Amino acid sequence: MEDRIKTAEQNGFTNISFIQGDLVDRDFVNEIICLFKPEIIVHLAAQPSAPYSHINGGMANYTQFNNNQATRNLLWGIKEANLVSKCSFIETTTMGIYGAPEFEIPEGFLDIEQPTGKDTLLYPGMAGSWYHMSKSNDVNNLYLANKMWKMSIVDLRMAIVYGTETEENALDPGLATRFDFDFYFGVVGNRFCAMALTGYPITIYGKGEQRKPQISLEDSVCSIVNAAKLKANGKFEVFNQTTEVPSIKGIAEAVKNAGEQLKLPVEIKHIPNPRVEKEEHKMVINTDKFQKLLGKPKHNIELQVHDPVVNKKELENQNKIILKDFSNLTKSDILVISVAHHNFQKINTTKWLSIIKKNSFIIDIKGLIDVNKFKKFKRIKIYQL
Ligand SMILES: NC(=O)c1ccc[n+]([C@@H]2O[C@H](COP(=O)([O-])OP(=O)(O)OC[C@H]3O[C@@H](n4cnc5c(N)ncnc54)[C@H](O)[C@@H]3O)[C@@H](O)[C@H]2O)c1
Repeated sequence: MEDRIKTAEQNGFTNISFIQGDLVDRDFVNEIICLFKPEIIVHLAAQPSAPYSHINGGMANYTQFNNNQATRNLLWGIKEANLVSKCSFIETTTMGIYGAPEFEIPEGFLDIEQPTGKDTLLYPGMAGSWYHMSKSNDVNNLYLANKMWKMSIVDLRMAIVYGTETEENALDPGLATRFDFDFYFGVVGNRFCAMALTGYPITIYGKGEQRKPQISLEDSVCSIVNAAKLKANGKFEVFNQTTEVPSIKGIAEAVKNAGEQLKLPVEIKHIPNPRVEKEEHKMVINTDKFQKLLGKPKHNIELQVHDPVVNKKELENQNKIILKDFSNLTKSDILVISVAHHNFQKINTTKWLSIIKKNSFIIDIKGLIDVNKFKKFKRIKIYQL
């Protein structure tokens, strides 16, 4: 962790500190809340795997005890430090708490009409795993903290997060995240990519027609940042944090297509479904509020698995064409080609440091670039032509 923080500092992120502790420990939680008097708490800590929570009764107990106790401790920690009116609490719960209903999934609440009257109810309770149910329990407690104390709560019902990079952690390999691709912790897109790259057939559970909400790591982080910018307003706000709902078969085909461009023979295999789930579920989700929170998504899953392949080829094949198109460049210009965003920028040398933050190819016109200056940006490739 020390190395990561040092690397982050070297890349301009200077206000990070790390305190190791267990959120299940109430004294620890109370101590850090009293010490820092935070205005915003973004709660991401949890045992986050459904299959792990199904291993046995012990793991189910651990998952629910750990996740629910940690959240309760934080909520009560804010209350007991008298910070309710000043501190917003943001938690990434999960889309999984909605289950797979036969109607459009609303953004957090259900309008119920009974023969005797109507009301609007919180919607957390159709989860399909012990882990997801731990988040349903969290949502009930978030709702209660808001109802009883008027605590400002943002409940981000997070979709399945794919990818490993944000603009910030792409700056240096020392900031890389984990790439989980195992049965317990690997999300579906990551597992399919790992299978394709290692020559293992892509294994679809059952028919694969079930649609599952997805979001890229970059878009999920951006939306958490936007949620943190919301002012404390004493409300309980729910956002369906997803940008697309592809079928599992669709994700497998996108990975296969990307693999074929790398000349990898990718096989798709259907295996009996180890999960209890509806294999043809259409999963229609209302995301009106979330779209406003995020703005335009930066990624979609099909492009994300194609990007590394397509851009690399494009660049290798088109270096000369690009240079011809920009033949009016002068000696003081550097052509920056940002891989992540497909945008070709012509910039003045004096501005390059502020612009070159992300994965970029730089084409150096007539050997103008001092390559040493770019050494700390390990993800940037320089072509000197
Ligand atoms: N990754 C996804 O696809 C996804 C989807 C929906 C929701 N979420 C939620 O988003 C959050 C982050 O998920 P992630 O994929 O980054 O998981 P992760 O496992 O990478 O991160 C969770 C972190 O929480 C820490 N933690 C767990 N219990 C703790 C405790 N008692 N005290 C202190 N730290 C503790 C773990 O050590 C780990 O570092 C989780 O709440 C998860 O449930 C993730």
